[in-house]
Amino acid sequence: MSDIRIYVGTPGNKYEIAHLEYLTYGKNGLSPNAFDNYIFNDSYLVYVAGINVNNIVGYIVVKKLKSAYLIKHLTVDAEYHNKKIGTMLIRKIKKCLNSERPRIIMLVRDTNTVAHLFLKYNDFVAESVIKPNKYDKGERDLYRFTYEGKF
Ligand SMILES: CC(C)(COP(=O)(O)OP(=O)(O)OC[C@H]1O[C@@H](n2cnc3c(N)ncnc32)[C@H](O)[C@@H]1OP(=O)(O)O)[C@@H](O)C(=O)NCCC(=O)NCCS
Repeated sequence: MSDIRIYVGTPGNKYEIAHLEYLTYGKNGLSPNAFDNYIFNDSYLVYVAGINVNNIVGYIVVKKLKSAYLIKHLTVDAEYHNKKIGTMLIRKIKKCLNSERPRIIMLVRDTNTVAHLFLKYNDFVAESVIKPNKYDKGERDLYRFTYEGKF
């Protein structure tokens, strides 16, 4: 979409992001304060997608691991799905890859078929299944998807 751009997330985005989270995940969505904690933490990258920086329709939060980037959150407003906004946000992280951190990882529930198709479209490969309770308290299996940059 030519009218949507990617911006570095700022504290000013936190209420719009929390609203988007509420619309997508209900009470389990990220709170404004949780979003603030990512913004002010050097271990995370936060990008938002919007018509302008104050009109946000999607966002991505990524943790910098020792040798990879781990996508913690990636959500696009349902009204804006299938317009390649999620792909634009992923592309932004692909541009951050280097020899120190050459891969992107995302853990996705086995039931989230849309996310599986989306990640495959973006050249991620499903590497392994993480059984319940090994990674978190979720009851469902998690798939580990990875994207490898070439250096
Ligand atoms: C997953 C999500 C981020 C995708 O964002 P998006 O901007 O709608 O995705 P894109 O338009 O970039 O999709 C790129 C490709 O992914 C696949 N895809 C995306 N949504 C799909 C759907 N509902 N059904 C089937 N394939 C889908 C398609 O191949 C699509 O390309 P195409 O439209 O040319 O066929 C969005 O659906 C979302 O926010 N879901 C809820 C939160 C979530 O599950 N987050 C985890 C993300 S991994």
